[in-house]
Amino acid sequence: MPAIAIIGAQWGDEGKGKATDLLGASVDYVVKFNGGNNAGHTVVIADETGHSEKYALHLLPSGILTPGCIPVIGNGVVVDLAVLFEEIDGLDARGVDTSRLVVSANAHVIADYNRTIDKVTERFLGSRRLGTTGRGIGPTYADKMNRVGIRIQDLFDEKILTQKVEGVLDLKNQVLTKVYNRRSATVEATVEELLAFADRLGPMVCDTGLLLNQALDRDQTVLLEAGQATLLDVDHGTYPFVTSSSATAGGACTGSGIPPTRLVQVIGIVKAYTTRVGEGPFPTELHDTAQSPGLGEHLRKVGAEYGTTTGRPRRCGWYDAVIARYAARVNGVTDFVLTKLDVLTGLEEVPVCVAYDVNGVRHDEMPVNQSDFHHAVPIYENLPGWWEDLGSARTFDDLPANAQAYVKAVEQMSGARISAVGVGPERDATVVIHDLIG
Ligand code: GDP
Ligand code: IMO
Ligand code: MG
Repeated sequence: MPAIAIIGAQWGDEGKGKATDLLGASVDYVVKFNGGNNAGHTVVIADETGHSEKYALHLLPSGILTPGCIPVIGNGVVVDLAVLFEEIDGLDARGVDTSRLVVSANAHVIADYNRTIDKVTERFLGSRRLGTTGRGIGPTYADKMNRVGIRIQDLFDEKILTQKVEGVLDLKNQVLTKVYNRRSATVEATVEELLAFADRLGPMVCDTGLLLNQALDRDQTVLLEAGQATLLDVDHGTYPFVTSSSATAGGACTGSGIPPTRLVQVIGIVKAYTTRVGEGPFPTELHDTAQSPGLGEHLRKVGAEYGTTTGRPRRCGWYDAVIARYAARVNGVTDFVLTKLDVLTGLEEVPVCVAYDVNGVRHDEMPVNQSDFHHAVPIYENLPGWWEDLGSARTFDDLPANAQAYVKAVEQMSGARISAVGVGPERDATVVIHDLIG
């Protein structure tokens, strides 16, 4: 069987966790290939009695919730070890079996100095800040690219680890003390922080690239689950208002060690409207606030659009077909899952952005120049709304006519077929149009 990627088509929080969980039973491995605990994936699982359990995952792949499925933290991830074990312990306490987790020896680790640098850099930038999650993600990827990062495998050789920490702190401490006026980090404390979990981590660590390719050789199915999303990708996103990893389908290969030739399906998760957390351009944003509520606040409230990781209110706006087409192109999306359609119930009309007007010129594709994107004014098509509750719909025919028309219109504009539609947070609150794993 092939490798399949799930990627976010907008600015994150599209419902990747739910989609991964939905497919979990059909796959053998679920791999987190990028990012770290900046991600927040909420999965809601209802049992036969109707009781539902909600899980918020940050560092662990959503496949950890599926019995039998092997969760993998790939080489492209940056790992905060304390967070990893806190998350493992939290799931263990709730009766979830976490013993199958494997972790790449080549993944990088986030040390305290990088969390500090992330936060003080944001403060230093002031009005030019990115609105990061403050988890040390950017500085840790910067160290990786600068070739001064610390990898999981370094934790098993204290001498090498100490040498590497000494090397990196030589420079970091200059920055911490002289640029940011902070206390320097000590080699001893850093080594102690990183070694604190080494014994527990040891048995989980392996060559995950080899493991996954051997699984594919055996005809098993590997699902690669992205953190973040296309417009937050360091190459293809709205740079510099992006995260520091490759969140697109290409990143699924480099972040896992699975070659592009083995990736046969790319599932793009796209919300029926758009949200964004943190700073950066967002053409279809609705600029109202809790104090002056309007349709943006309506979407935020009905869609419960508050960050899973930082609790920040998400910025909300209408569906943007230009970025959906862009995501389809960049990732080679074969199927879209359109999530949270239920949130749009009860609107007279639902605007959808079909193109941008930039200084009087129509753009059907993402403008090449970032400044133009900042000035893009959406050109909307207004689609008729619906009032019926969608929560119990399970087939396309169960959807009211105007909701069906919305799905069809959005599909036509977005560059790939829509294979499933989300109508609620629970695993089974999904309308399947085409089988996602064929
Ligand atoms: P991720 O980061 O892409 O995994 O998405 P998040 O978990 O951060 O945010 C998506 C939120 O929407 C979560 O709270 C999900 O439980 C919820 N959700 C996912 N799909 C649907 C849906 O179809 N309808 C509704 N109402 N909620 C959904
Ligand atoms: P999931 O996987 C939404 C955003 C941050 C900030 C920018 C850079 O749940 O979709 P970082 O801490 O990564 O350096 O912050 O990226 N961001 C996310 N926004 N969902 C996420 O993950 C995000 N991960 C990072 O808000 O704007
Ligand atoms: Mg999220």
